[in-house]
Amino acid sequence: MSGDSQKTFYLETFGCQMNVHDSEKVIGTLVQQGYRQVETVEQADLILYNTCSIRDKAEQKVFHRLADFKKLQSQGKKFGVLGCVAQQEGDRIFERAPHVSLVCGSASYRNLPEMLVQIEAGKRATGLDDRQTDECFETEFTARTNPYRGYITIIEGCDKFCAYCVVPFTRGKERSRTSDSVLEEARQLVDLGYSEIQLLGQNVNSYKDPAGKRSFAELLAAVGEVPGIKRVRFTTSHPRDFGRDIVEAIDAVPALCDHVHLPVQSGSTRVLGAMQRLYTREQYLERIGWMKSAKREISITTDVIVGFPGETEADFVETLTLLEEVGYDSVFTFKYSPRPNTPALKLDDAIPDQEKARRLEVVMAKQREIQIAQNKRHIGTVREVMVEGRNDLRAQWIGRTSQNKTLNFTASGPAMAKVGTYAQVRILSTFPNSLLGEMVV
Ligand code: 5AD
Ligand code: SF4
Repeated sequence: MSGDSQKTFYLETFGCQMNVHDSEKVIGTLVQQGYRQVETVEQADLILYNTCSIRDKAEQKVFHRLADFKKLQSQGKKFGVLGCVAQQEGDRIFERAPHVSLVCGSASYRNLPEMLVQIEAGKRATGLDDRQTDECFETEFTARTNPYRGYITIIEGCDKFCAYCVVPFTRGKERSRTSDSVLEEARQLVDLGYSEIQLLGQNVNSYKDPAGKRSFAELLAAVGEVPGIKRVRFTTSHPRDFGRDIVEAIDAVPALCDHVHLPVQSGSTRVLGAMQRLYTREQYLERIGWMKSAKREISITTDVIVGFPGETEADFVETLTLLEEVGYDSVFTFKYSPRPNTPALKLDDAIPDQEKARRLEVVMAKQREIQIAQNKRHIGTVREVMVEGRNDLRAQWIGRTSQNKTLNFTASGPAMAKVGTYAQVRILSTFPNSLLGEMVV
């Protein structure tokens, strides 16, 4: 427990960057309420988990954590569950984990100050707002926990209802922020010393400026033109809404990073139909074609699900051939995991777990081969990196390229690297998941 009288909290975050950024806002709100953040559960009066329910494993982690720390309740500690599992499970969390006193979904964080008062008085508090709310969780109390990358939410929620996905149920319907308020926040981030911005949304491509001023591509370009901004990233894109104007914006504005994450999920048009993804393999590849004809080489990454109900061996092979055809720089691969409320729950032809595991291994091995070959193309080139840290054991600096690749490098003589600045690095050798180089003078 804290030595002084100030209330303390510990917060652990699971899941996507939206959750990471929500946590920044939750931290800011708690600090404003007089709490101090601590690094360990032992030091904390209030223990919070910002949770993810995208796959069963992510959800189980939360309940394991809660079970592990149940014994701490006798020390007067309080527990709260935030985020997607909170929204999905609601009051049922109190039954499964009776030592929890706060359950709050992401649409209700603005009510946290009142909920804190309730739990401090020994009561239980729930924030499970109807997710049809128009409200975005905006607060002036955002704590910026990533020293290099400033996150800005531009759209919350998702209206796509892919057959496997829990997000429309946990984060509700789409609502966008005005492009003017996004630009204002970008300027504030520059004043705070940030030069890299990441625009966030479950589906940034369906961004609709409530003031009708700018399309997503226009907003992207405008953020890239804010003085002081060197790098702009955005995630996540849905192929159906991914317009050619985004590639044109990347061509026109140097600050827009040459990296696009475009989740494909499957290479089979039949499976894409069953997933309700609203595009075919050919339409997806058309978008890839736009990116491949861009002026700068755009790094393309994706997400793949294996073992969706009814996925045949032939469907699966189509995913493998798609990986080759696109030549991704990185792929996040997942075994299909049935989620509450989702339409796919009703589908027959579940794939046995062992077979899902086999397909996962095959995809990963294939992609590893592709990455080994892909990364070699960088050898001999000079890339700019943002210096993010130092590995003293290896006497290397850790950098990130505009394409979002990790580029570790050495710097000797007058070429001194400094964390938080940019450096030019010549690439000397490559690995499946990183590059190695030396800083050029
Ligand atoms: N099972 C497996 N993977 C899933 N994803 C989303 N829902 C599921 C699910 N039910 C994956 C998708 C998505 C990524 C964030 O998580 O690939 O793009
Ligand atoms: Fe997980 Fe989706 Fe919630 Fe992000 S929005 S935390 S990925 S369930």
